[in-house]
Amino acid sequence: MDLLRRPRRNRKSAVVRAWARETDLRADHLIYPVFIREEEGTAPIPSMPGQSRLGPEALLRMADHTLEAGVRSMVLFPAVEERLKTSDARECTNPDGLVPKSLRALKARFPELSLVTDVALDPYSSDGHDGLVREGQILNDETVEILVQQALSQAEAGADVIAPSDMMDGRVGAIRQGLDEAGHSHVSIMAYSAKYASAFYGPFRDALESAPKSGDKKTYQMDPANVREGVMEAMLDEDEGADVLMVKPAGAYLDVIRAVREATPLPVAAYQVSGEYAQIVAAAERGWLDRDRIIEETLLSIRRAGASVILSYFSVEVAPRLGV
Ligand code: PBG
Repeated sequence: MDLLRRPRRNRKSAVVRAWARETDLRADHLIYPVFIREEEGTAPIPSMPGQSRLGPEALLRMADHTLEAGVRSMVLFPAVEERLKTSDARECTNPDGLVPKSLRALKARFPELSLVTDVALDPYSSDGHDGLVREGQILNDETVEILVQQALSQAEAGADVIAPSDMMDGRVGAIRQGLDEAGHSHVSIMAYSAKYASAFYGPFRDALESAPKSGDKKTYQMDPANVREGVMEAMLDEDEGADVLMVKPAGAYLDVIRAVREATPLPVAAYQVSGEYAQIVAAAERGWLDRDRIIEETLLSIRRAGASVILSYFSVEVAPRLGV
């Protein structure tokens, strides 16, 4: 054939393919989410094979392993004992609670590890909702007051980045103001801006036994049908002082990642959530998918869509195969 343009020439060897490569994936693009508990030892999470709830010693070992793998950031999710869960979720502000205690232990041993904490009531709420519940309604403004206290207890214990995942209106601005007034102006906010009411969170709720006791999260988490609304949420969080804007889940929402990327100068984060993890692990266990290749392809695709940083349960597994 008489062809002037033969795009295959740019795929002919590894060297040439490297010149043509538009997107990269490095260990520094990854954050590792971990589940923590009060009790020593570890408890595997059945719907997330390979992930466990970690007791205090196991958490320190995992932090060491994470840094060793080249991943320099972790996000902590507490599996709170049933007896501490109340309708006002007050345990979430306890300065000696599981999260603040873990932050202090981690910071003392691994000052170079960047620690991200989740702000939301669900792990502490006997209702399993991210906000306070009254007569079946999720209260916004009353919840935000508690979230500010929760964020402060985390900042005081050494959190580097506060990540509100609750989807209440106005919480980013309120947390920013609360942090600044308490002298924590250096503590960052990574806002779960476009967080969808997704079935992909199922395994996570198993891990924390945090599923809503009644109803669903559709009055605060977003409708999976919407992208413009996701951009609006992201813009509000930017205006309220967020440092990083997150889209969650990641894999089924690549168009939202792209739209938010184009709307903001801030770094965009994406969360490859528990259900995305479970799908890949389950198919790979059956020999139906090549685990290593699928992990890299999904993470690279999230980067290609526009994510600067990715929260993934595969972070520590994949990082040694990547550069920093
Ligand atoms: C709760 C929270 C959830 C996740 C992170 N923070 C679950 C939810 O909103 O029900 C999900 C993470 C995952 O599925 O991996 N505030």
